[in-house]
Amino acid sequence: MQTRSIALAAGLLVNLAVAGAAAESSLKDAYQGDFVVGAALNEPEITGQDAAGDAIIAAQFSSISPENCLKWERVHPEPNRYDFALPDQYVALGEKNHMFIVGHNLVWHNQVPDRVFHDANGKLLGRKALLARLKHHIYTVVGRYKGRINAWDVVNEVVDEDGSLRKSPWLKIIGPGYIAMAFRYAHQADSKAELLYNDYNLEIPKKREGAIALVKQLIKQRVPITTVGLQGHYLLGEPSVEQVDTAISEFAKLGMKVAITELDVDVLPRPAGGPTADVTLNIAQNSALNPYVGGLPDSVQQQLAARYGELFAVFVKHRDVIDRVTLWGVTDADTWHNNWPIRGRTAYSLLFDRAGQPKPAFDAAIHAAGR
Ligand code: G3I
Repeated sequence: MQTRSIALAAGLLVNLAVAGAAAESSLKDAYQGDFVVGAALNEPEITGQDAAGDAIIAAQFSSISPENCLKWERVHPEPNRYDFALPDQYVALGEKNHMFIVGHNLVWHNQVPDRVFHDANGKLLGRKALLARLKHHIYTVVGRYKGRINAWDVVNEVVDEDGSLRKSPWLKIIGPGYIAMAFRYAHQADSKAELLYNDYNLEIPKKREGAIALVKQLIKQRVPITTVGLQGHYLLGEPSVEQVDTAISEFAKLGMKVAITELDVDVLPRPAGGPTADVTLNIAQNSALNPYVGGLPDSVQQQLAARYGELFAVFVKHRDVIDRVTLWGVTDADTWHNNWPIRGRTAYSLLFDRAGQPKPAFDAAIHAAGR
């Protein structure tokens, strides 16, 4: 109660700041007591080569995620070699700033070397041998940061668009039980860490039905899952806020905590259709599909702000079950949308512009805290 009153008092200051200079308020203060607000960090931010980015991170965010450095191919590039140089710096940065530190990710079908699924002669591994590799990887990576990394994306994107389990090599070789085993290994390696199933498009009913069935099954098997991560790779008009609201409610009903793990809003044309985060999409460059090279028209800037405002309003409505909202990058210079699904575009997906200045979308995100 007392914490909330202090937060409310602080909120008055935040609102005053929004009315004046938004740059003086911070996301982490605006949502203190509701959920932590995070950002995914790239290599220059982790190593201190992006001083301007690091200043924004320290001032604005209370949580960090590693955009790439803890993916299997980076942290475990060869069978008997782990590379912890960058992850060690990443964790140290989070500790220095007293942040909630996220690990992303342990099991994915992308960014995992093909040799993981084969023996030294190129023959496809059997179930037992692949489970042994999975266990070694998880014990080594989670174990190294035991008590320091607070939450792990244990399985990433394991449900397909039709709601079935994704036909990854993990599924084909081990069978559906690989998901439960990954959670158990992670829990054995660090029993205090929050453990997530993380995915995109869970706002779409068909895919969500599959995800709900999976989570129910895991709960029934007493698998140590704590949280469902909605990645939150959104467009200006899709999914609707009602769909986001429903997705959060449905996972909360299962007793899960919910985290928004990779939030961004793409304003650029999507020749391949609606929302997706399938990293394998690769569409040819075409200047008609890169309309805002010279800057974002004010009308679109305002739509983006309104979109962030409505999304944060839904998140704050569910603050009892949402423990984290993480942006997938810091400034527009960093967003993966500059290179996906078409390379070399000028994207505007985040809350800070290329010069590191807060955008109208930032003001809207702060304002939605309602303090
Ligand atoms: O670091 C190399 C660089 O040395 C090389 O010159 C360059 C040439 O293409 O590639 C660089 O690596 C790229 C890396 O991002 C760093 O920029 C990879 O090619 C590129 O594939 C990689 O993309 C990442 C993608 O995941 C695939 O791992 C994005 O940064 C990252 O934002 C994205 O994040 C994913 C989440 O992990 C899961 N959910 C979807 C989300 C968005 O796609």
